[in-house]
Amino acid sequence: MSHYQQPLDVTRLPAWQSLVEHRRAMQGFSMREAFAADPGRFQEFSLSACGLLLDYSKNLITRETRDLLVRLAEEARLRSAIEALFRGEPVNASEGRPALHTALRRPVADRLEVNGTDVMPEVHRVLGQMTELVGRIHDGLWRGYSEKPITDVVNIGIGGSFLGPQLVSEALLPFAQRGVRCHYLANIDGSEFHELSARLRAETTLFIVSSKSFGTLETLKNAQAARTWYLAQGGSQAELHRHFIAVTSNQAAALEFGIRAENIFPMWDWVGGRYSLWSAIGLPIALAIGMSNFKELLSGAYSMDQHFLSAPFERNMPVLLALLGLWYGNFWGAQSHAILPYDHYLRNITQHLQQLDMESNGKSVRQDGAPVSCATGPVIWGGVGCNGQHAYHQLLHQGTLLIPADFIVPVASHNPVADHQQWLYANCLSQSQALMLGKTRAEAEAELRAKGLPEEEVQRLAPHKVIPGNRPSNTLVMERVSPRRLGALVAMYEHKVFVQSVLWGINAFDQWGVELGKELGRDVYQCLTGHDERHTADASTQGLIDFFRAHHRG
Ligand code: F6P
Repeated sequence: MSHYQQPLDVTRLPAWQSLVEHRRAMQGFSMREAFAADPGRFQEFSLSACGLLLDYSKNLITRETRDLLVRLAEEARLRSAIEALFRGEPVNASEGRPALHTALRRPVADRLEVNGTDVMPEVHRVLGQMTELVGRIHDGLWRGYSEKPITDVVNIGIGGSFLGPQLVSEALLPFAQRGVRCHYLANIDGSEFHELSARLRAETTLFIVSSKSFGTLETLKNAQAARTWYLAQGGSQAELHRHFIAVTSNQAAALEFGIRAENIFPMWDWVGGRYSLWSAIGLPIALAIGMSNFKELLSGAYSMDQHFLSAPFERNMPVLLALLGLWYGNFWGAQSHAILPYDHYLRNITQHLQQLDMESNGKSVRQDGAPVSCATGPVIWGGVGCNGQHAYHQLLHQGTLLIPADFIVPVASHNPVADHQQWLYANCLSQSQALMLGKTRAEAEAELRAKGLPEEEVQRLAPHKVIPGNRPSNTLVMERVSPRRLGALVAMYEHKVFVQSVLWGINAFDQWGVELGKELGRDVYQCLTGHDERHTADASTQGLIDFFRAHHRG
């Protein structure tokens, strides 16, 4: 039976028991001492693949730890689970679907059958449809209602129909072409709409309604508001098709909205929203950076797919990152994981990885419906460095929580200014180093004495200057942010999330947990707007509704 039909209980595997014992033995482990004892520690615990260098030597691990974690992956039948994913088996058991985001970046020569049909020709037909649209817009052949070329593209979408495209189009701004500006409209918030529309001219704006379901409230309401704005700005209903296209698996709903069939880009139910930036959901990316760069992005992801499929687990980036996350989450009590990009263009990667990881692994039942037997997905948070050093790094260094961190940093900047890049890179490394080294009481006292403080002051201040250290982090380095390397980086995290889902026995590809809030939202809306005098289920919500109805004007 497969991992998604009969998920294992990872806590019952022999390797898990060995890890429990090993964890006890590791209680006094010191990274400082490990580095002092083994000058080859960096070589031993780092690897390069797909243009990325992963340094995982600043972790609470020994060779034995890695061996035991790899053995756990083998006992968990991870290799067959990976093959099932790539083969298009219904790894999304609750919806009975494959998860074939990897198909979106495979070469055209490959065959891949889903329910008896080779999906690759359709995947590449849509890539061709994207190429044709991008070409027409970049060449000024696609004209608006006043016969002017398109200068601004607005992606109307939320979640996976927004975060991935936003991350990539902003991360690859140095590769932007033809002056087509990309904007994102996601939230059902009039201020977001107002701030954006104030910067646009309807006659030169193309709206992309990106919604796999074409049923997401925020997206539909924004699409309707955009259409109203377009008409109020002088656009005509007859020319609406020049300014609205759609990416969706729900063609009927898009047609009903008024989008022409030839301007609907399909997506498939075997691609999850948070895994869909490689599909036509990536249209804003392609419009921003051009199709050749978009295909470079796909190639980078494809190279990571091949690495994931072929590298032995002890030399496999996604597998190692997944196992380290499991080590801290299930054996060291870590409940969150920080993503710290030291690059302006990568500043939005944390938001995308939040959805990718937390919407995939924020689960508490296994694929077979049984309760999980261990902790699962962590809280993913973080932000751009060095800014975080002046905001939340204090907690990382001296707080009471163990929070593993991924530092992500390019060697070269697209925009060298003085020695900024050297300082940025130095800060990234020094934060990781400080987390590992810490500062002992003796070092703190010596530092204070060296400043000539009286002994009484030394003893008073020293406890506050001690930094525990021994806090783990990974560092991912690339020579420069590029489409290919970014594709590999994002695919690496997709596979890390999948590996963890297999080990925990959960489904990384459904998201039933978001349905209740949506359902309740409709009831609250009815009460808020007076369409329904029925009182809600609880006094808190009712009290808050009453306050709104007493104070809302407009
Ligand atoms: O949050 C639920 C969710 O379905 C996400 O998984 C998805 O990325 C987002 O809403 C948008 O969904 P759609 O693309 O169908 O509008």
